[in-house]
Amino acid sequence: MENQHLENRNRYALITGATSGIGYELAKLFAADGYHLILVARNEERLQEVTDELKNAYSVEITPHAKDLFVPGAAEEVYEFAKSLGVSVDVLVNDAGQGEWGPFITTELQREIDIIQLNIIALISLTKLFLRDMVNRNEGKILQLGSEAGATPMPLLSVYAATKAFVLSFSAALANEMKDKNITITVLLPGPTDTDFFHKAHQQNTVGYKEKKLDDPADAAKDGYEALMRGESKVISGSTARTHVFMSDLLGDTLAAANARKLNEPSDKAGREEITHEPSKKEREAIQAVEGDYGKDGQREEEVKPF
Ligand SMILES: NC(=O)c1ccc[n+]([C@@H]2O[C@H](COP(=O)([O-])OP(=O)(O)OC[C@H]3O[C@@H](n4cnc5c(N)ncnc54)[C@H](OP(=O)(O)O)[C@@H]3O)[C@@H](O)[C@H]2O)c1
Repeated sequence: MENQHLENRNRYALITGATSGIGYELAKLFAADGYHLILVARNEERLQEVTDELKNAYSVEITPHAKDLFVPGAAEEVYEFAKSLGVSVDVLVNDAGQGEWGPFITTELQREIDIIQLNIIALISLTKLFLRDMVNRNEGKILQLGSEAGATPMPLLSVYAATKAFVLSFSAALANEMKDKNITITVLLPGPTDTDFFHKAHQQNTVGYKEKKLDDPADAAKDGYEALMRGESKVISGSTARTHVFMSDLLGDTLAAANARKLNEPSDKAGREEITHEPSKKEREAIQAVEGDYGKDGQREEEVKPF
């Protein structure tokens, strides 16, 4: 496929989490618009597959960079890697993020510290490093992956939702700090989306995953991409997320938490078991193949129990 947008020919976007789900779909949108890409995720094999696929489909340069953003200091290494390429990153997309399902008193503290490292520390580190360069050039765009969970306290997913509340607040504040510059900060709030997220979070046996409709990651990516290109500070993707955010605002924290909990309770109904989004399915297969050898999000064997 030939590029439609030759004006982006010398532009670079760096996307974390680009091998699966929403990040993968964002990578495709950038490539279709003529952006060269630096793609970050942990699994080298998947990174290479996605690199080859995008190179074949679009006439852009794709540079894969395997990095585990659970590791403190990894974000700085990603920045140094991008600098070593001698290119300016015009767009930064902080997509990589994980959650962990379960009653807070039963989940592993280290897993949650890792999630805070990925969803918050890596995100603010990459943002600070690349934003300083953008300010020096007075040009740039940043897309942060928030979530509808950032607008609602979520029992049984409490730490994840709190990390996304951070992303939401941080992004809005930063958008204001940049308002007189040629730089925009956009936060995307998807609703429940059909990716590997639920499996990594051990959330696959819940009402929300088994029984409810999930959004298509391509739709969430498109909403985020378009809002980013328009320079909007926030976009809520899909009718489910818009309803959830509206209800949270209306109900207040206590009632909103009670409502959110219903979706995070275990379900014993027969329901969705598989991811339908092909790249996310490949992500799951790749994780199963190494059985949690990388990162801290390997399979958790025990059954999901009611609390
Ligand atoms: N799916 C949903 O329902 C939903 C809803 C709202 C918001 N979101 C947010 O959307 C973003 C993308 O999630 P998704 O649903 O597309 O999930 P996904 O299918 O699990 O994709 C996650 C991506 O991030 C990478 N990643 C995970 N841990 C990483 C780490 N420690 N270091 C570097 N890369 C890492 C993964 O590749 P590797 O495994 O190879 O590292 C993969 O490319 C997340 O921030 C998530 O919180 C998701």
